[in-house]
Amino acid sequence: MSTHVAVIVGSLRKGSFSRSVALELRALAAPRLDLEIIEIGDLPLYNEDLETDTPPEAWQRFRKAVSGTQAVLFVTPEYNRSLPAVLKNAIDVGSRPYGHSVWNEKPAAIVSVSPGTLGGFGANHHLRQSLVFLNMPLMQQPEAYLSKIADALDENGRVTDERTRDFLKTVADKFANWIDRTRLK
Ligand code: FNR
Repeated sequence: MSTHVAVIVGSLRKGSFSRSVALELRALAAPRLDLEIIEIGDLPLYNEDLETDTPPEAWQRFRKAVSGTQAVLFVTPEYNRSLPAVLKNAIDVGSRPYGHSVWNEKPAAIVSVSPGTLGGFGANHHLRQSLVFLNMPLMQQPEAYLSKIADALDENGRVTDERTRDFLKTVADKFANWIDRTRLK
């Protein structure tokens, strides 16, 4: 049976390299994992004043969607050596109200993506810090820092570089194993 996995992409850009990688992972992970990209671009900035009996509809939609999955895969670029604000906002929205975090105990993995040489290491590890706090069993190996990503994609955003595809397949397989080992519910 397929495991339903939420995929959170840390870029809103139409031609996003991160989204291309997420889509490739979706294809490579099937049928063992059923990867569903859950959109974050419409989430109002987190504001505790909106945390009433009727929080913003987009927050409710997002929380429900992530709650309905069994694990989470984050695919993100790096902004200024950290994670993009839009991704941090989604993490904050999902973490509240207090005691009802949608992230709690869900196995997770991080793939960081960059057209540069460092592979989004800073974003990967800043994100890691939040996910540890949020009690997500986080896959340790393989670490996935995808550098020079533009060279691995064709003009349609498909991952055509063989080594990159092989590596993404390994990441997908290892993540499926990790979910099997660590899933609590
Ligand atoms: C970037 N970019 C970038 N790249 C990187 O490797 N390390 C960094 O710290 C930054 N910082 C940064 C800040 C801001 C505000 C922007 C807009 C961009 C470049 C970034 O990796 C590039 O734009 C990617 O294409 C973004 O990922 P997507 O949108 O293609 O998924």
